[in-house]
Amino acid sequence: MLCTRLVDQLERSLRQILQNPAASRPLGLATGRTMEPLYAALVERLLRWPSPDLAALRRSWCSFNLDEYLGLPAGDPRSYRTFMDDRLGRPLALPAGALQLPDGQAADGDAAAVAFRAALQAKGGIGVQLLGLGSNGHVGFNEPPCGPRTRCRVVTLSGSTREQNAGMFGGDSATVPTRAITLGLDEILMAEDIHLVVTGASKAPVLHALLALEHPDDRLPASWLGSHRQVCLWADAEALQHP
Ligand code: GLP
Repeated sequence: MLCTRLVDQLERSLRQILQNPAASRPLGLATGRTMEPLYAALVERLLRWPSPDLAALRRSWCSFNLDEYLGLPAGDPRSYRTFMDDRLGRPLALPAGALQLPDGQAADGDAAAVAFRAALQAKGGIGVQLLGLGSNGHVGFNEPPCGPRTRCRVVTLSGSTREQNAGMFGGDSATVPTRAITLGLDEILMAEDIHLVVTGASKAPVLHALLALEHPDDRLPASWLGSHRQVCLWADAEALQHP
């Protein structure tokens, strides 16, 4: 149900982009387990579009991902680049360059982060931003503490985040990269619309803490989303249960 409604919403946004590609801003995309069923449902829906519409969508697709690990080799199956190519790029036959991610192989990560922000700004900033939620309250890889003015940059991943993401690395958090490039809250909060997607019982404690906060707090970076004028929270029953 949650997936269907959110896919309806995304489909509407994509149709609007098609109606006026020149005036549309890029999609902001996320990775992670939360996004897997969503992207599968979105692909299924889009592949049912009439061929001319789908062809036009491919031509106009422009998305910027939130984050990427630093230091994994090109084509590494655990990279977010591979995640996006596997879940959206190949299934939808998107052209090269349609899915933009930070350069995780950059020798100079700081320069790569500045270049990614500049490329996003050149396109007018994010239109519709999808976000997952980290168990420690991060969005993208904006680890706590994190304020609203943070820009695209290189970050050091916390132990808890490397634990959370160890599944992709054979369960061994020691092999999860220690650094990543992430969009900052500054770029995220400049999006026109934000959709925060929170699913599963493991997210119940952090979602409960987030909803209990009265004011944004750097210790829970996602709480800064509350200062945005157009945020939707999509949560399933497991994530909403009292922890
Ligand atoms: C990860 C990613 C985020 C993702 C979030 C939730 O660490 N950096 O972009 O949205 O944390 O991940 P998951 O959906 O696997 O729980």
